[in-house]
Amino acid sequence: MTGRFMDTYKRTGLVFVRGSGCVLEAEDGKKYLDFASGIGVNSLGHAHPRLVAAIAEQASRLIHVSNYYQSREALALSEELCSAAGMDSLFLCNSGAEANEGAIKIARKWGAARSPSKTTIVTLRGSFHGRTIATLAATGQDKFHEQFGPYPAGFVYVEAEDAAALDSALGSDVCGLLLEPIQGESGVIPLSDSYLRLAARLCAERGILLMTDEVQCGVGRTGSFLASSRAGVRPDVVTLAKGLAGGLPIGAVLARGEAATTLVRGDHGSTFGGNPLSAAAARVVLGELASPGFLDAVARKGQRIHSAIAAWMQPLVKEVRGAGLMIGLQVSCPPDRIKELCIEGGLLVLTAGADVVRLLPPLVIGEADIDNGLRILRGALETAGKI
Ligand SMILES: Cc1ncc(COP(=O)(O)O)c(C=O)c1O
Repeated sequence: MTGRFMDTYKRTGLVFVRGSGCVLEAEDGKKYLDFASGIGVNSLGHAHPRLVAAIAEQASRLIHVSNYYQSREALALSEELCSAAGMDSLFLCNSGAEANEGAIKIARKWGAARSPSKTTIVTLRGSFHGRTIATLAATGQDKFHEQFGPYPAGFVYVEAEDAAALDSALGSDVCGLLLEPIQGESGVIPLSDSYLRLAARLCAERGILLMTDEVQCGVGRTGSFLASSRAGVRPDVVTLAKGLAGGLPIGAVLARGEAATTLVRGDHGSTFGGNPLSAAAARVVLGELASPGFLDAVARKGQRIHSAIAAWMQPLVKEVRGAGLMIGLQVSCPPDRIKELCIEGGLLVLTAGADVVRLLPPLVIGEADIDNGLRILRGALETAGKI
């Protein structure tokens, strides 16, 4: 099946018809254990009863009102999300890239109010911030800067973990530092706590907004609501998307302190952002994450996967990285081959970077599914090692 899509995705050919919990069923009836959750989107798995009920109830009552009006669902979500993230205000949109666009606009306006030349945004090499023109420019990987120029100016890239490079890049022309606490697309590469703390200190001392892109690693994925809080760091601006509404499109840029009041009427907008349907879904996700023990369980389940894989190690796995249920295995054979072998065995995994198999299972995954998935993954790694 090809359809009439522009050929922008490397698809597997699988066509899914339904899902339940951590299992997806394809058209031919074959079932797959889902260690991908879309790409970290189905945080509550598939067909979660409370999520389904909330979406159905909301759809039957009110799907959309423009942002000239309000809905109770979006109002409640704005309170709950700001409180979960420890932020003062938010802007709701529809995707991760759009959330980062919002963050970039906040930093630029915030900087310009202090000095006309305070417009530079520093990001890290290996980062990924989205597919719009500005977020491609923010992405610190040359391969994303080749085809769609001219790109907007004002982005500077530094090597992650290089304290001296960060120190010298954060000059008086810089309005914001944007970074992923765990780089997802480039291979599940966590920034060290000490580097994150240094970044926070330098930003605070020099009047620069610290902005964390937690589109992939936020919303409980690492076992804390925000991944940055694991290092004891409080960003001025944080972006969220992916798992926030359990599968419905949503993005959010949240800010605190002076950054929270930077954007005013007419500065920004989105037709669909903050629609009641996505808001109702996001409220269910936040409710589940806030239930007693939920985030600790994410950390524990992640540890179970991590330790199992750490015990396999060489020659199957070179390194295992990540936190909570965001895990990357650096492998010595092409990760796409592992992904194919996993599919044959009935397991969906992701790849990242050049040599990483990435696992982002639903946050609600149970131990039996974890162990089954690990068995299939190990079989795939062993088979790939013999080829
Ligand atoms: C860290 C990060 N930022 C931004 C994005 C872009 O999100 P979206 O595809 O929802 O625009 C992604 C997507 O993979 C991401 O991982």
